[in-house]
Amino acid sequence: MHLSPPLKMFHSSLCSEKSPWKGARRWLFYVMLSLMLGVLVLYSWFSPSWRPLLIQRDDNKTAVNTISPSHYIPSQFYVEYPYQYHFILDEPNRCRQESPFMVVMIPVAPQSKEARDIIRRTWGRENRVLGQLVSYFFLLGKSRIGNDAEPPDEQILNESKKHHDILQSNFLDSYKNLTIKTMVMLEWLSSHCPNTSYAMKIDSDTFLNVRNLVDMLLKAPRHDYMTGLVARGAAVLRDPTSKWFLSPNVFPEDSYPPYALGVGYVLSLDLPKRILEASKKVQAVYIEDVYMGLCMRHLGIQLTDPPRGGLFVVNMPSERTDCYFASVIVTLLHNSEQILDVWNAYETRPDC
Ligand SMILES: *[C@@H]1O[C@H](CO)[C@@H](O)[C@H](O)[C@H]1NC(C)=O
Ligand SMILES: *[C@@H]1O[C@H](CO)[C@@H](O)[C@H](O)[C@H]1NC(C)=O
Ligand SMILES: *[C@@H]1O[C@H](CO)[C@@H](O)[C@H](O)[C@H]1NC(C)=O
Ligand SMILES: *[C@@H]1O[C@H](CO)[C@@H](O)[C@H](O)[C@H]1NC(C)=O
Repeated sequence: MHLSPPLKMFHSSLCSEKSPWKGARRWLFYVMLSLMLGVLVLYSWFSPSWRPLLIQRDDNKTAVNTISPSHYIPSQFYVEYPYQYHFILDEPNRCRQESPFMVVMIPVAPQSKEARDIIRRTWGRENRVLGQLVSYFFLLGKSRIGNDAEPPDEQILNESKKHHDILQSNFLDSYKNLTIKTMVMLEWLSSHCPNTSYAMKIDSDTFLNVRNLVDMLLKAPRHDYMTGLVARGAAVLRDPTSKWFLSPNVFPEDSYPPYALGVGYVLSLDLPKRILEASKKVQAVYIEDVYMGLCMRHLGIQLTDPPRGGLFVVNMPSERTDCYFASVIVTLLHNSEQILDVWNAYETRPDC
């Protein structure tokens, strides 16, 4: 007969003539111990404040969010993700039907119709570049969270019917929720664009040189590829008044792993699915681009630097040649109205 150790003990204690009660007591002790351990494991599985311990178990000492159980997790640093959000305005077939080489995803606030119109009239018009198709979509959350059955805002619905370029998900659109926006974008890309090679995520107050972008991508790897302005060794901001403050409890390391600045980055379309898998293991912090970097580290995928410097620009030089915008891929502007001037200068540029 094969008995597991506690049962064996039980068996022998029953058969033992000398001290039946001693054996039974020891058996009881083991049962209680197993029960307590079981309760502890269950508790740590279901209790949010303990979950990081288990979730980060496989993270190979470069632990991202390893938090001691005695620390309270301040929820203002995390966003509600993973979570089942859904699109209340969608273009479910466009990407599959158009089969573009690249999609450009533009996160924008619901009320910023003006910014969307400016992009539609400038770089968002560049649909065929160097023989490649490029599609554009705007990513919106909701301006307020009401009843889920409530119809979408009529103005945005009209805009969507007219342009067929709006993807609106049902989370509250806010700065602190940008990570959610990026994650639902990745969900959308992985389920709607089976025949697309790259996606670019770009802010709405930027200049984008689509031609230079496509030119770079035609020579780029098709897999495990993410590029942009890659920050390496960026310090974690510990000043509580900073816009990007993160407390040491949430992220104990002094510097972030490499990440591509959120103003504009590109990824090959094998990555959305993998980043989504990683997001089940890496707690979602509110700093969107940093969170992408944390997921990339979890996946063990290196970020790629652009082929040369000066392609992704956050601090636009005040002294610019006429050929400046012909030479970059992305430049952050002061606001989206500035795109109109810049675009005009770009289109009427001399030979560069
Ligand atoms: C842990 O990470 C190091 C360096 O990143 C790597 O060399 C090693 O193979 C990893 N070990 C495991 C078990 O993943
Ligand atoms: C939406 O479009 C309809 C029909 O074209 C129009 O009657 C309505 O005024 C529009 N609503 C808004 C808010 O623009
Ligand atoms: C983020 O979105 C979620 C889901 O809609 C919402 O519950 C939460 O209040 C939002 N947080 C912020 C800071 O806007
Ligand atoms: C995928 O895209 C290429 C061009 O990018 C096209 O030639 C091909 O027909 C597309 N395949 C499908 C299944 O749509």
